[in-house]
Amino acid sequence: MAKQFSGNVFEKVQDEQRQGEVYEATTVLGGKKKMYLESYGCQMNFSDSEIVASIMADNNYVATTELSEADVVFINTCSIRENAEQKVRGRLQVFRQHKKQKPDMMIGVLGCMAERLKSKLLEQEKLVDLVVGPDAYKDLPNLLNKVDSGQQAVNVLLSREETYADITPVRLGGNGILAFVTIMRGCDNMCSFCVVPFTRGRERSRDVHTIVEECRQLAEQGYKEITLLGQNVDSYHWSSEDGTETVNFAGLLDRVAKIDPLVRIRFSTSHPKDITDEVLHTMAAHHNICKCIHLPVQAGSSEVLKRMNRTYDREWYLDRVAAIRRILPDCAITSDIIAGFCGETEEQHRETISMMESVRYTMNFMFKYSERPGTLAARKFEDDVPEEVKGRRLQEIIDLQGQHSLESNQADLGKVFEVLVEGPSRKSDEHFCGRNSQNKMLVFPHQGVKAGQYVNVLVERVTQATLIGRIVD
Ligand code: 5AD
Ligand code: SF4
Repeated sequence: MAKQFSGNVFEKVQDEQRQGEVYEATTVLGGKKKMYLESYGCQMNFSDSEIVASIMADNNYVATTELSEADVVFINTCSIRENAEQKVRGRLQVFRQHKKQKPDMMIGVLGCMAERLKSKLLEQEKLVDLVVGPDAYKDLPNLLNKVDSGQQAVNVLLSREETYADITPVRLGGNGILAFVTIMRGCDNMCSFCVVPFTRGRERSRDVHTIVEECRQLAEQGYKEITLLGQNVDSYHWSSEDGTETVNFAGLLDRVAKIDPLVRIRFSTSHPKDITDEVLHTMAAHHNICKCIHLPVQAGSSEVLKRMNRTYDREWYLDRVAAIRRILPDCAITSDIIAGFCGETEEQHRETISMMESVRYTMNFMFKYSERPGTLAARKFEDDVPEEVKGRRLQEIIDLQGQHSLESNQADLGKVFEVLVEGPSRKSDEHFCGRNSQNKMLVFPHQGVKAGQYVNVLVERVTQATLIGRIVD
């Protein structure tokens, strides 16, 4: 069936930091029944919602922004920290109220909470009709039929192969300029704090040809920036079945960057153990590969990193930062940091602070450690840093990052950056906004430019979060 899209609504509510961002994505698709889809968590989850939307469109579902008119309500969930799960539970209660008015409405939980909470959600709390894990979306039509015939439906099987390589995602909500392409799924790293290897399964890389083809189509459709997504993109590794073709992340970057010099490439997330000089040289070789690396450090102390099972130590991380500075002098580095991991002493916290002083991140996502059931840390270590100490350490990290972000922006005063125009700024229609290669947001009077154009912007003022300036020739 041809997909027909007669409308498109996308709302992104900045709720927490990245992992807590709430996306409410609803798109009107061609078909008969109505689907309402809400997506929580990371960008990977949002991208998965685009795959779900595509599968549902092929099965005659029209999406709606009105919960009350939905035949099916899906919530794509996140388990990374406890508060992410709490939010989803709150929404499920709201959906239950709607179901009282409309008993035929089906409620489905998708994504990372599916595996962990399947029996609880279905049996004990009777909150939902179907539960579908991140590798089972192709089974959705079948599962919906099951619910239709009065049964509960579950598929939380994790796969070693599924990459949805053959599904063209329905681009939900964007402005036709920025797109996200999943290049690998799952994670084999087993960081001790992290639930992802349990909710998303083993690492697998998608066929390079399908990635390049999807990116080529996006370029043809006028998209100007593609972000390659995966839990651990720099461990991307794909081989053809006959073994004659092997592509690593540097090779993939090179192929994707060559599609169109006017289409920018970003990627997220990189693991410090895999960010090779080859990747950095490939970035240096292509102007359109953006000079920003998200390189989560998590902690500054080698002992804490060991307990976290991050497989690198402080020296390794600083060596990789030095390599970035050497090969890509204008590259921004951003990070994730966890405050108050099991057994973290005051001295080890100070090592995180000194790591931040050494690297000078342009931006950071900062979290209090939140124990997740079933993880290595939950089994092996005590969550023994008191809540108020975690809070105080996190605040110190946030305050220092605020200072570093401001200083990094001040260093850009008087510089001219190439900016991809994204559209009107949040505060005024007179001003447009867009990002530079380093992923910093710039705001400027629009002077008749259009979204999707590249402009040069001179930075005249800065805040902690934004560079403010005007378009110059
Ligand atoms: N507690 C706090 N933060 C966590 N993250 C992952 N698991 C946890 C946890 N249990 C953070 C890490 C990771 C980011 C996506 O979320 O910093 O890089
Ligand atoms: Fe979790 Fe570590 Fe994998 Fe990231 S690399 S998803 S933190 S296990």
